[in-house]
Amino acid sequence: MINKNQKIVYIGMSADLVHKGHLNIIKEGRKLGIVIIGLLTDNAIASYKRLPLISFEERKVIVENLKGVSKVIPQNTLDYVPNLKKIKPDYVVHGDDWKEGVQKKTRDKVVEVISKWKGKLIEPAYTKGISSTDLISAVKANGITPGKRLATLRRLILAKPLVRILEAHNGLTGLIVEKTSIMKNGKKYEFDGIWESSLTDSTSKGKPDTELVDFTSRFQSIEEILEVTTKPIIIDGDSGGRIEHFKFRVKTLERLGVSAIIIEDKIGMKRNSLFGTDVSQNQDTIENFCNKIKEGKNAQVTSDFMIIARVESLILGKGMKDALNRSEHYINAGADAIMIHSSKKSTDEIFNFCKYYKKIKNKVPLVVVPSSYPQATEEQLMKQGVNVVIYANHLMRSAYPAMVATAKNILENNSAKEASEKYCMPIKEIITLIQSDS
Ligand code: SPV
Ligand code: MG
Repeated sequence: MINKNQKIVYIGMSADLVHKGHLNIIKEGRKLGIVIIGLLTDNAIASYKRLPLISFEERKVIVENLKGVSKVIPQNTLDYVPNLKKIKPDYVVHGDDWKEGVQKKTRDKVVEVISKWKGKLIEPAYTKGISSTDLISAVKANGITPGKRLATLRRLILAKPLVRILEAHNGLTGLIVEKTSIMKNGKKYEFDGIWESSLTDSTSKGKPDTELVDFTSRFQSIEEILEVTTKPIIIDGDSGGRIEHFKFRVKTLERLGVSAIIIEDKIGMKRNSLFGTDVSQNQDTIENFCNKIKEGKNAQVTSDFMIIARVESLILGKGMKDALNRSEHYINAGADAIMIHSSKKSTDEIFNFCKYYKKIKNKVPLVVVPSSYPQATEEQLMKQGVNVVIYANHLMRSAYPAMVATAKNILENNSAKEASEKYCMPIKEIITLIQSDS
């Protein structure tokens, strides 16, 4: 119980991996009064870096049981101000590491707001040699369990306004999606997960995207990617194949730790959607495709795996009404999300769909693939109510022209000198790109 005469101490933290630095801050806080922890929610953490390894609910139980903690409340933003205004603590305690760098702005706002009720900021020396970020990197370097990886996609969709996915078709491209990040305006930007694309997987094998590369082969690529990454994976399931086979595929993917499969409502010889109506392609009946979704949902073992229904009506020139009608049917059949595809160069068609989709009562998350309309910004997609954006083929499309240019250059010069200097990374870098102990 909090006694009125006791001083209130507020400490904000993520506590994804608790270490002695956290315990020290709490101990210092306890010397001053009753300690309330503002525990950053998954949304708050995901707004500036990667989704925490441990979910908010689990972190809350852990922190509630730490010695010296009286109460844990959610801190919904990186910004402390909303919670501080509510609680008006006598003290805020934080390690002195935030005086410089990306957290400085957050600190300045804390100082300003608590001065209104004469609150004090206490900054014990930061515990050197222990960083949560380093600990988390060490944990990730040891991989991830299939169950933990599988559940991450649903957590991301809940925690982030827009989940950002990039294509991979082998171990190397998987590593690029896993590791590439940039810092912009104090925030870390990276990809949230991997799209194992039928187009780029087929292309990398020199085969057409017609389901010729079957799942026996696709599973090998998936394994390759799983082995060197920890981020969630969405599989491009093409048409899903025969219902009897689809049920097995769902179980296999779950066992591997894949988060979702997207199946498209096409039958017969599947052609890539970006051909649009230039080639003949057939759409499945609503009834049959709904059965496929239902049977897949019944087959899955976990509650976290997602079956995402891909509506091809706009691709096949069947119109907006058909696209929306099918979306509603697929949702009622149990689809965990809808992917809407368009091969138009302008965003009009897709944004128009989004506008109507918003009005569907029991709507589920919406996925888009801006291949033919790459001008769409993430900001615009979020505004349209899109939950997941898949950059479906860009690593393959950028690698291929670079490789052809190198090949031509060697032919033109009858020597590799110019190509080595102009197009290639140094030998030293390529031999050390993949560390032998990683
Ligand atoms: C893929 O990446 O294989 C897809 C998306 O299915 S698209 O190529 O746009 O059809
Ligand atoms: Mg595909």
